[in-house]
This record gives sequence, structure tokens and C-alpha cells, in this order.
Amino acid sequence: MSRRILTGMRTTGVLHLGHYVGALERWIEYQNDPNFDNECYFLLADFQALSTHADRPEVMARSVREVVLDWMSVGLDPTRDNVKFVLQSQVTGRMELSLMLQMVARYKDIMDIPTLKHELQDLEDQHRNPTIGFIAYPVDQAADIAMVTPQPPGQWDRILVPVGSDQNPILERCNVIYRTFNAQYQRQVFLQCTAHEGRVGRLPGTGDPDTPEGGKMAKGKSNTINLSDDPATVRGKVHGMYTDRKHEHATDAGDTERNPVFVYLRTFHPDQTRVAQMDKDYRTAGVRLGDVQVKNELASAINQFLDPIRERRAEAERTANVRDIVMTGTKEASDLCVQVVESAREAMHLRFPT
Ligand code: TRP
Repeated sequence: MSRRILTGMRTTGVLHLGHYVGALERWIEYQNDPNFDNECYFLLADFQALSTHADRPEVMARSVREVVLDWMSVGLDPTRDNVKFVLQSQVTGRMELSLMLQMVARYKDIMDIPTLKHELQDLEDQHRNPTIGFIAYPVDQAADIAMVTPQPPGQWDRILVPVGSDQNPILERCNVIYRTFNAQYQRQVFLQCTAHEGRVGRLPGTGDPDTPEGGKMAKGKSNTINLSDDPATVRGKVHGMYTDRKHEHATDAGDTERNPVFVYLRTFHPDQTRVAQMDKDYRTAGVRLGDVQVKNELASAINQFLDPIRERRAEAERTANVRDIVMTGTKEASDLCVQVVESAREAMHLRFPT
């Protein structure tokens, strides 16, 4: 059975461990799925990157290449027939689709999206004035998701979108937009989409404290461990992490539940029996287990996890023709997008008069 997958990331710099456990891990599963014939479109969202990084041309200039190399480093393989890397800004029909969907999306429905609300609050806190493009990005994302799935032939019943959990409310709103369009124009132009979350909803950042609210590994917050960090950098970042403040001495009883170091150990350590042992020792008063030792083990675990990723990245840097890869995937998406735009235009009566 064949399934269609579309997902993407903003091209705002190199990727980190949060991207891996929150999304990329699932993308790789889809790409390699033995039970389904999955056609995967991975979108390099450079236009959406402008919604926050329009004033950072140096970031924009290098990020598409960085993200492609990061994707390849984790094992996404654009040389396969079922995998395409698509550059958002180069699919011209997508922009048309985006404007069409803006004509059916409702202002209040969009402003109601929790993810967007939080982001708007962040911008306000930084005294930044959000652009219209920023506010419209959830609608624009509806165009991304729909652009490679023309209807009929009805070969697919939905579009699968593997994303981080913060994207769920956006996808729900995309579905409302598709339904509104189809109902208003009495035509099945758009399919519904389904989110598929990653293994770990939210990975704390290296600079985040062990509070209930925690934090989130995010670019721009300088609290990331990047997929392309070298071993010494990883070690330095791990040693700078918060642990439980009550665990001042190696023999104090400490908390492991919210302790970011233990969150990472549970996520990345290859030997979870060892983690369970450390967890118990750390929580038990009188048993000696110092933060430095725990951090040493974590740094080794992460470095071990990243080693094959680093190797594949070096290989991709040497041999991959990034431009070619992206142009090929983008061409395929564009050909499909033209068909979607055509049926939407027809439904909306955007035609020269007869
Ligand atoms: N909003 C996503 C992010 O910030 C990126 C994205 C753009 C996306 N277009 C998409 C995700 C389409 C899924 C589907 O990471």
C-alpha cells in the first residue's frame, strides 16, 4: 500500500538533538518502512524561515545546505526513489495555493492556535512586531501539506505529517481550512492530514533548569546540542547542564524525574539497565554518585550516539551534490503542485471570462 508523507523544517540553522527525537527519528521510520510504500516529501521551509529570520540574511544564506547535510547525516536518503527534498521557495504554485487558502481560513481560528499564541508572546516580549507573513504561517503550512497530493485519483485517503507535538494544533487548523474549502466549493480538492508525533515531545535545553515548566531545546536559545557538534563541544555543553539543586554533595538524595541530565540519559543512553542503576543511586541518600560522573557518562552516551551521524555528515559534505538533490526533489513537487493549483483555480472560478 502506498502512502503519502509530507513534513518539513524551517531552515534557520543547524539541527539539534531535539529535532532528532521530536521528528527526524519518525521521518527515518517512514522512509524505511517495510510495510508501506511511503512516498516522502521533506520540505526545506525557507519561506517560513523568513517569518522569523528575515533580518538574518547570513543565516538564510547557509541554512538550506546545513539542513540538507543534517538530514543526510541522520540517514535520510534522497537518492531513493521514495524520498524527495523540496525547497519551499522554489515551488511557485505553492504560493498561489497559499493565497487561495487565505481566502477561506478564518482570522479567529488562526489567532486561536496555542503554538502561534506562544510565539507571538515571545516576539512581543522581545519588543518585535510580528509580520503578516508570520501570523499567516499556519495557513501557509496548509499549502505546504496539500501541494503534492492532487485529487483525484483518490489513491490516498489522507496525508501523513510526522511532526513535533507543538505542530498538532496547527495541523488541526489546516484540516478545518481544507474542509471549509471543499464544502464551500463543493469539491474534494483537499485531503485531510494526520499528525504523527515523535518519541519525545519536548527535550529540555542544556541551559534549562529542573523546574516543572522546564524548557525546550530550541535554536535561538543557545541551549542546543547540535547534530554536528564535535565531541569536545558536546562534553562542554553537558558539563554546563543543570542537575537537581538539592543534590549538592555526591551522597545527597537527588531527583531524577525532572533533572535534565536524567531526561537525556533516558533518551540517549544505549544501556538503560545502567541508567536505572544510576537513577536509583542518585535518588538514594548515602550512596555516592556525583554529578560529574553522571555527566561524564551522559557525554559519552551522546557522543556514541552522534558518532555515526558525524561520519555520515562528513561523507555527505565530501560527496553530496546538495544543489542537484534539492533541484530534483523540488521539480517533482512542483509538477504535482501545478495539478493541485489547477483544480483549486477551477473550483474558485479564477479564470478568464468566456
Ligand atoms: N512549522 C514547521 C516547523 O517549525 C515547519 C513546516 C513548514 C512544516 N511547513 C510544514 C511541518 C509542513 C510540517 C508540514 O518546524
